[in-house]
Amino acid sequence: MKTNISSSAPSQLETDCLVVVVLDHSEKDKPAPAVECDDKAVREAAKDVIASGEVTGKPFETTLLHHPTGLKARRLLLVGGGKAKNFSAAELRKLAGAAVRTLKAKSVHSFAFASGGGNGVPSPFDAVRSIVEGAIIGDFDPGYYKSDRKEKDKEQKIDALTIVTSGDAKSLEAAMQAGRIVAESQNFTRDLVNEPSNLMTPNILAERAKKMAAEVGLKCEAYGADKIKQLKMGAFWGVAQGSDEPPALIVLRYEPTGAAKDVHLGLVGKGVTFDTGGISIKPADGMEKMKYDMAGAATMIGAMRAIALLKPKVKVTAIVCATENMPSGKAQKPGDVQIAMSGKSIEIINTDAEGRLILADGLCYARQLGCTHLVDAATLTGAVVVALGYVNAGIFASTDELYERFAKANQQAGEKMWRLPLDDEYKENLKSNIADMVNSGSRWGGAIFAAMFLKEFAEDTPWIHLDIAGTAWMEDSKPWIAKGPSGIALRSLVEFVKGWSA
Ligand code: BES
Ligand code: MN
Ligand code: ZN
Repeated sequence: MKTNISSSAPSQLETDCLVVVVLDHSEKDKPAPAVECDDKAVREAAKDVIASGEVTGKPFETTLLHHPTGLKARRLLLVGGGKAKNFSAAELRKLAGAAVRTLKAKSVHSFAFASGGGNGVPSPFDAVRSIVEGAIIGDFDPGYYKSDRKEKDKEQKIDALTIVTSGDAKSLEAAMQAGRIVAESQNFTRDLVNEPSNLMTPNILAERAKKMAAEVGLKCEAYGADKIKQLKMGAFWGVAQGSDEPPALIVLRYEPTGAAKDVHLGLVGKGVTFDTGGISIKPADGMEKMKYDMAGAATMIGAMRAIALLKPKVKVTAIVCATENMPSGKAQKPGDVQIAMSGKSIEIINTDAEGRLILADGLCYARQLGCTHLVDAATLTGAVVVALGYVNAGIFASTDELYERFAKANQQAGEKMWRLPLDDEYKENLKSNIADMVNSGSRWGGAIFAAMFLKEFAEDTPWIHLDIAGTAWMEDSKPWIAKGPSGIALRSLVEFVKGWSA
């Protein structure tokens, strides 16, 4: 999708479709919809349909007018944005996605989005960025292996988007590029997650990371079983040993000149390319979904792509532990004891609690490489879905200071996450009779248990853990996004990293 910026009056723009936002300005029940556009001709063109009561401005309501009077555009699409007082960049991002998905389905190939002008929130630059992000994210279609895909792509594809706004051209251009980088990186992550496990093995993931790294100028190393054993990653290997598919330890390095000397961010991703549960095997129902158990890894790889292109002045290293979790004659068994890289011993109670094992060694390795602050992302527990459903990702933080930083980035990125606790009282549950800790505890508070387990390996390094089990995969499509891989957490991570730029 090509994107460009135009400062022309929306009514004077020749386009297949002009998209404008309708907000509801009422304080009470009766809607008071208004078109958010400074151009009087556009408001006139929408006047009758608004007066009819057909348009209310409620979120994602779409109304398409053909040959709108007084406009050069062939069509006018009104998209509802909800209450004016709640409107923000996050809503605008979704509306751009909804516009793309609506117009694609109608075989419209290019359109213009009038970025508003009503209440001035968000700023023109934030608006441009949000529109570009939302449009590119909305364009993703997970139907990779449908045999009519090529024809459908020809028929239903948005080739060009013009954003109609005014302001300093250079800054608007920069905002557009930033939005494009982040959204294309998010789609890159979604692409990796969408692939089935037979076509996204640990080594294919490593190859994809390497290819991306070469394109954007990152250093990338991928190691196999030998290195994992040499580093004494007994927890990681304990999971990997059960699979015929070789594991991969992937390291991506971003080392800009002029970065602060005392900050080195470490991004650690869970890359289980398929989670059968191992010997503690999962029920068949829904097991196909476990191909997305590498979403944390894909998020970190995608975030590194965006970081390499946006060039913040801070050192960042991503570590991805990639493996399958399989039952076999070589697989680890409940009761086995594994010695993690840090030297701590772990009694394996449940082989399905494998993510925390591979992350334990990933976090330890990140510390060994000198990371001063850690963030991990993982589809770690079903329990986080019980706690927060499919709406919020779980966020855990070892310090309030680091949480505040992340929460700010999260807010800007417009992603939903909710903090869960890490009180010392929970540590009780980690106790094992035979080893330093167990890998799985009581039924209750499972997401917290997993986080407490990881904390043992982050040790005293400030650390954030994102449990994205409920949010990395969309069960249903939404007006602004297809069902399937969501790319959650990437935008927050990128904002977070930018916040450390020297
Ligand atoms: N990959 C799963 C968690 C998961 C569940 C991801 C649902 C996405 C959707 C993880 O490895 C797992 O199996 N966790 C177990 C842990 C339990 C055995 C302690 C769980 O949550 O049931
Ligand atoms: Mn599991
Ligand atoms: Zn898993």
